[in-house]
Amino acid sequence: MEAIKLNQIGISFKGSGSYVPNQILTNQNISKKVDTSDEWIKSRTGISERRISGIGENVVNMGYEAALAAIEMASWDIDSIDLIILATSTPHDLFGSAPSIQAKLAAHNAVAFDLTAACSGFLFALVTASQFLKMGSYKRALVIGADQLSSYVDWNDRRSCILFGDGAGAIAIEATNEFNNFIGFDMKTDGERGSFLNLPFNNNIDSIINNIDFMNGGFSPIQMNGQEVYKFAVKEVPIILNNLFKKINYSSEDVDWLVLHQANQRILDSVGERLKIPKEKILSNLEYYGNTSAGTIPLMIDEAIRNNKIKQNDIIATSGFGAGLSWGAALIKWG
Ligand code: ACO
Repeated sequence: MEAIKLNQIGISFKGSGSYVPNQILTNQNISKKVDTSDEWIKSRTGISERRISGIGENVVNMGYEAALAAIEMASWDIDSIDLIILATSTPHDLFGSAPSIQAKLAAHNAVAFDLTAACSGFLFALVTASQFLKMGSYKRALVIGADQLSSYVDWNDRRSCILFGDGAGAIAIEATNEFNNFIGFDMKTDGERGSFLNLPFNNNIDSIINNIDFMNGGFSPIQMNGQEVYKFAVKEVPIILNNLFKKINYSSEDVDWLVLHQANQRILDSVGERLKIPKEKILSNLEYYGNTSAGTIPLMIDEAIRNNKIKQNDIIATSGFGAGLSWGAALIKWG
């Protein structure tokens, strides 16, 4: 590759990949476990089925498969990868899972680390990786979003267990002096509203010896106030996207595709309406995968690229939102 000129570094989107487990859990299957129905789930969320990791599957092997497909699409030599960021809230090892993906890929020249921001994780990781590239520190980065929420869902809680599934996606980005396809971004968090959606530490107190207590490791299942999360998403996502459009002199009419975090079809429809983006431009695959947390955005982008929907130079507006609370938006041009 040519030497990079620091004052004019842009980002190029070179490849995408995704992976979902084979096991399918349908709405009918769930209705055998909790008091719900296909009709209720479908009409309130748009979800019909979701994928559940099989024995031995985890974010490392899901993320690896997604990353490999993205590297192949980008036609990259493995040794040329400088940076791997894994966005996940469900690491296979709390000390970090990204280095295990690096090892599986044999990406010996890359530094790899995890980043946690729930369903905003992929977007936050994409922004983070782009900053390393724009500063001239690294040239090639893999951004992976992977989650295995099936391990943390309370399968007896009908208000939340219907929503989530497992999966991974990855995007390969590269620094270039030719153009900049990472047009703009914004990110926000509000910890004061954090109690609306948690995967909390379980606070079990134990003793090491007399008078020295400690908190035993472990996590409680997902706790969610669905209505508050819903209200948050339909309010904040149009605001952050509209503000971003204004800041970079774009309008929603310039957008070819709206790729939102795949949480609920009603959220997608409501945000689309508020932004005046027609339904045909709003990509959705949550019917088949549910909410795969950090996986949804790259999974959706990869599927749309491989189905010839997203093409070179298409403008994509994207937004991730979820626990934290956290949310963010980005405008990119594919290619
Ligand atoms: N089947 C049947 N009935 C149900 C179910 C179910 N699966 N779940 C709830 N109900 C019942 C409730 O008990 C309630 O009954 P009641 O009126 O007798 O008390 C009734 O249905 C309505 O419940 P609501 O909670 O008001 O249902 P709502 O229309 O808000 O839909 C949902 C619930 C789908 C969870 C919605 O609020 C939602 O999608 N919220 C956003 C959640 C989300 O996206 N979370 C992930 C964010 S991303 C991340 O970071 C992980």
